[in-house]
Amino acid sequence: MKIPFLNHLQTSEPLPYLEGHTPEHIAIIMDGNGRWARNRGMPRVAGHKEGVSVVFKIVKAAAKSGVKVLTLYTFSTENWKRPKSEINYILRLPKEFLHVYLPDLISNNVRIKVIGDMNELPASTHETLQYAMDRTRDNDGLQLNIALNYGSRNEILNAMKAMVKDLNNTKLSMDELDALDERQLSKYLYTADIQDPDLLIRTGGEKRLSNFLLWQLAYTEFWFTDVLWPDFSENEFLDALEEYRQRKRRYGGL
Ligand code: IPE
Ligand code: IPE
Ligand code: MG
Repeated sequence: MKIPFLNHLQTSEPLPYLEGHTPEHIAIIMDGNGRWARNRGMPRVAGHKEGVSVVFKIVKAAAKSGVKVLTLYTFSTENWKRPKSEINYILRLPKEFLHVYLPDLISNNVRIKVIGDMNELPASTHETLQYAMDRTRDNDGLQLNIALNYGSRNEILNAMKAMVKDLNNTKLSMDELDALDERQLSKYLYTADIQDPDLLIRTGGEKRLSNFLLWQLAYTEFWFTDVLWPDFSENEFLDALEEYRQRKRRYGGL
């Protein structure tokens, strides 16, 4: 490994030529549940159910690997286009997941946060998630972000609306608006206090972002696999980490 120049040590600039790091923040598009079920002649919801146990396995694997932040895409703002019965099933799953796994997550020092619009969720899901967030607020282990009813364009649009409101009620002056930088704009997003992902994993074979973290993924490394989410395992997760360690992140530099 090359020795970094001293001036880099004095700044918080990323070190593009320092290889071999574990990604601090991993974001995952957990895709392929429906196809997994269909392949077995089962209803699509059986795939969602199976996917839940994989979530816990990967949370544990991430914590064990030294990952600090894990962000999981569980329901997009576009997923409302699906049949009502499937939507209802998916939106009840966080409650079932937490009912089974919250004690373990608490004892593993995991901190839970939801990103997305919680207001449109069923009341009982909303309450359970709020309880989990409050209960784990002071934990300082792995931060688990659950992207639920999340859409990136909607997030950016809401950020702009909030900014205009701040301008109108003079919390933000015209001069401050002129001087606004990327870091300040980030403060208006759901991810205000969350560092950008280092690695994005998408299972299920599709190679697209599906409206996930468009702003935050600007310099993230992407890793795709055909494996369907219910078949995803700790081994594949470790493969993704290993490949990440071989990547050279340049951020536009050399
Ligand atoms: C991902 O699996 C879970 C959600 C989008 C909620 P899908 O339900 O999209 O599964 P496929 O892509 O149809 O197989
Ligand atoms: C992305 O998967 C959303 C989640 C995994 C929650 P989709 O299955 O909804 O994505 P598209 O429709 O294939 O782009
Ligand atoms: Mg899908």
